[in-house]
Amino acid sequence: MQNNTFSTLFIAQKLIHLEAVDSTNNYLKVLLSKSEPLAEGTVILADNQFSGRGQRGNTWLSEPGLNLTFSILLNPTLLKVEHQFKLNMAVSIGIKNALCKYVPEEIKVKWPNDIYFGKKKIGGVLIENTLQGNVIKHSIIGIGINVNQREFGSLPNGRASSIAEILQQDVDLRTILEQICHCIEAQYLRLLAGSGKTQHQEYLNCLYLYGLPSTFKSSEGNFVGIISDVANTGELLLKTEEGDRHFGFKEIEFLD
Ligand code: BTN
Repeated sequence: MQNNTFSTLFIAQKLIHLEAVDSTNNYLKVLLSKSEPLAEGTVILADNQFSGRGQRGNTWLSEPGLNLTFSILLNPTLLKVEHQFKLNMAVSIGIKNALCKYVPEEIKVKWPNDIYFGKKKIGGVLIENTLQGNVIKHSIIGIGINVNQREFGSLPNGRASSIAEILQQDVDLRTILEQICHCIEAQYLRLLAGSGKTQHQEYLNCLYLYGLPSTFKSSEGNFVGIISDVANTGELLLKTEEGDRHFGFKEIEFLD
C-alpha cells in the first residue's frame, strides 16, 4: 500500500498500485467487504488489468502498462438513491475537464458516461453503487482511459482512440491520473455542496449529439430523435416524431 503526494484533499491520498489484477473494481469490492474500514478516496490502480469489466457486461481491454485502469472509492451517503445519476454526471464532467487540459479540441461525454473525442471512444466509466435503504453507502468509480495505446486492432468499428494517438506523443500516466483525481474531487465536492443543477446543465453542454437529430435503435427498430435531457435517474430523454420518449441504459443504442 502506498500513500502519495497528489495535490488532492482525499482522492488518491491512499493509492494501492498493483502490477496486475483481474479488475480494480473487483479488488476494491473485496477490500470493502473485509472488516477494516477504508478511507474515502482510496484508489486502486493497476498496470495490467487482465479481466476488466465494462458496461452492459462487456469486457474492458487495455494494453498492460500503457493506459489508466483504476477505481476510486466514494461514500456519497448524502445522495439519495433516486438521484444517483448526479454522481455519474459529476464524475463525467471531472474526467472531461481533466482531459481537456491535454487535448486541444472538444472532449464529449456519450451518455451515460463514455468519454469521446470526435467519433472515437477514449475512455469509459463503470460505477457500481452499494445501497443502504434510500442512500448510497459506497460507490466504486471504475475508470479506464486510453492514454498511450496506439493499436486497437481487435476493437469493433475502429472507434477507439487514445490521448497519445490524438496528440501524436506519449503522456505521463501519473500526471494524467493526478489531474483526473483532482478534477473528479472538485466536481464531487461541488455536488455535495448542492451544485447538482448547475452540473446537470454542464453535463448536457458536453453531451455527445445533444440537440442534434441522430439515429438510434430500440427494440422497436431504428428511429431519429434529438437528445433533449437526461433525468436524474439516468434515463435519456429524446424528442421524436412520435413525441417525447425516455430510455433506460439497456433500451437504446446510438447508431451515429
Ligand atoms: C465502459 O465503457 O464499458 C466502462 C469501462 C470501465 C473500465 C474500468 S477500468 C477500471 C475499472 N475496473 C474494471 O473492471 N472496469 C473499470
